[in-house]
Amino acid sequence: MTLTIETVGGAGADLLAALHAAAVDDPWDRSAFAETLAMAGMTARLAISDAGKPVGFILVRQVLDEAEVILVAVDRAARRQGTARALLCQALGQLDGVRQVFLEVASDNAAAIALYRGLGFTDVGRRRGYYARPGGQAVDAIVLGNSPPFPCR
Ligand SMILES: CC(C)(COP(=O)(O)OP(=O)(O)OC[C@H]1O[C@@H](n2cnc3c(N)ncnc32)[C@H](O)[C@@H]1OP(=O)(O)O)[C@@H](O)C(=O)NCCC(=O)NCCS
Repeated sequence: MTLTIETVGGAGADLLAALHAAAVDDPWDRSAFAETLAMAGMTARLAISDAGKPVGFILVRQVLDEAEVILVAVDRAARRQGTARALLCQALGQLDGVRQVFLEVASDNAAAIALYRGLGFTDVGRRRGYYARPGGQAVDAIVLGNSPPFPCR
């Protein structure tokens, strides 16, 4: 799939909420996206397919020389075609003066963990019982970190 990646501003909250709903079981609502997009240092990027359809997005926040990957999500119907990797590579490649990048991922999210490890992220910590799951279970968050240069082709 040929992708176009473009940045989206605060007006993109509806679109990101719709895409998130197509990607996860517990999506953020429009106001959560609006609030997040308004945070200092936040950049949202949208991946658009060659058919003109938005298929994924990434939110990254930079504060001084650190950045955090806040969310990456790809429409269930458009997975495993390199969209998330392309979004991450563009977002990481365009960070300015960043020395470290962090993110949190659920320890049972094998797809995302493989994605991040493939881009050079390594374990830097673990938050016990960080994510609530239906039925009262809790799942650890793994904190992953990375530094430039990132292994993007
Ligand atoms: C995780 C997610 C963003 C991956 O999106 P994607 O566009 O399908 O990922 P890509 O096609 O770019 O995959 C890149 C690499 O990630 C890994 N990967 C992606 N999906 C995988 C899966 N289901 N199983 C194992 N590895 C996977 C692979 O290493 C893959 O490389 P390969 O296809 O060359 O083997 C997507 O599954 C998603 O939106 N999940 C729900 C939201 C989520 O979990 N976000 C991350 C929260 S921290």
